[in-house]
Amino acid sequence: MDKIVSLSRRRGFVFPSSEIYGGLGSAYDYGHYGVLAKNNIKALWLQAMVQERDDIVALDSAIILNPRVWEASGHVTGFTDPLVDCRTCKLRFRADQLEQASCGRKPSKRPGETPDCDLTEARQFNLMFKTQVGAVEDSSSDAYLRPETAQGIFVNFKNVLQLARRKPPFGIAQIGKSFRNEITPGNFLFRTREFEQMEMEYFVPPAEAEEWYRYWIDQRYAWYVRYGLRESMLRIRPHEADELAHYARAASDIEYLFPIGWSELEGIADRGDFDLTQHTQQSGTKLEFVGEGGERYTPYVIEPAGGPDRTLLAMLVDAYDEEVVAERDRIVLRLHPAVAPVKAAILPLIPRNGDMVEKARGLFEELRKRHMVEYDDGGQIGRRYRRQDEIGTPFAFTVDDQTLEDDTVTVRDRDSLAQERLPLGRVREWLGEALERPWRTPKA
Ligand code: GAP
Repeated sequence: MDKIVSLSRRRGFVFPSSEIYGGLGSAYDYGHYGVLAKNNIKALWLQAMVQERDDIVALDSAIILNPRVWEASGHVTGFTDPLVDCRTCKLRFRADQLEQASCGRKPSKRPGETPDCDLTEARQFNLMFKTQVGAVEDSSSDAYLRPETAQGIFVNFKNVLQLARRKPPFGIAQIGKSFRNEITPGNFLFRTREFEQMEMEYFVPPAEAEEWYRYWIDQRYAWYVRYGLRESMLRIRPHEADELAHYARAASDIEYLFPIGWSELEGIADRGDFDLTQHTQQSGTKLEFVGEGGERYTPYVIEPAGGPDRTLLAMLVDAYDEEVVAERDRIVLRLHPAVAPVKAAILPLIPRNGDMVEKARGLFEELRKRHMVEYDDGGQIGRRYRRQDEIGTPFAFTVDDQTLEDDTVTVRDRDSLAQERLPLGRVREWLGEALERPWRTPKA
């Protein structure tokens, strides 16, 4: 994980947030390449969930909802973690994760293990961030930052059913920020207090719930493999009955073997009719499906819920590679080309040569209309290649002496390091095709 954190910082993917003020625990800011890569992940999710399907529509609901939403959903009373305080070192721990925690004393031990540890009884701590809406600061203005995007979907069920003229099975997909006052955040992007989610609520006839639950586990697993994660690093883990969230009839996690061990990458849950029934009872608006023949029922919900931050972390971990090439160390991010922040670099071999620069700039201007590409004329060619390797750029086009003679350029492949020559006039088409080709990581 340290190598990923250091590369992310060095190459401008992710920085600690508000660093000049000493940072804020587990909050991160995305730099240029981080923004581009995370945007690619979100776009690929929308492509698979909405663009390539007939049965799912998109939504972008508000972050601050009517607080009654969170009473109905069970979050006000139930979205809690058990917490213990240490009166000696003043740290807080999750009561159910004391085994993995470290106490504030040196040498650090598990909370409760030293004679000085003085732990309180466990108490329930609500993970929602509270805020106030409007000028009046009393409890009537209390509101919450959403801890999941899902509820914004449930409260729009009727709108979508009517306006998008859908009938089960159909889904509503949403990407957006969620907030949780996590007691033990950490492990870089894995668990932060402010993060994005990619959630889809799929409304189905109750009798079909089991079938769609299996279907979405398979679909989501295949999506991660499609975008390059190695199958040896992925597994599906069904939840035990005592782990299920308050709303779930069944749930499975797609887990990735992060440096911290096997951990949830995405959860797929069968939420039954819990949410629509709760909102029907609390709002007085019937959230049900009425068929043309008069049949009516409350659909069950199958929910694949992932997040682009955690997905990016898994992809960075999976892509990170070190090797020795011609007796020199090379660090390379073997990202899927669709995820890579920059698709190709355009490099004049000799930056002082005006003719090379002109050709390279011309190629850059042509390619940037279609793709995120980068022109780089700073420093020795070897250093420029290494920089592009570290940000995961799959292809580099180099303009050299031969280009000035025969209008061909060298294309270098990030993974194999193979080089071939291409006519300048064919580069645009070649790159378009290369980015469409199926890709598999060469990592074992
Ligand atoms: N609506 C269901 C739900 O929110 P979840 O398993 O708590 O389920 C879904 O969250 C996904 O959101 C996770 O798989 C993860 O990708 C992301 N996520 C949740 N909490 C997170 C956090 N503190 N930091 C980063 N990502 C988080």
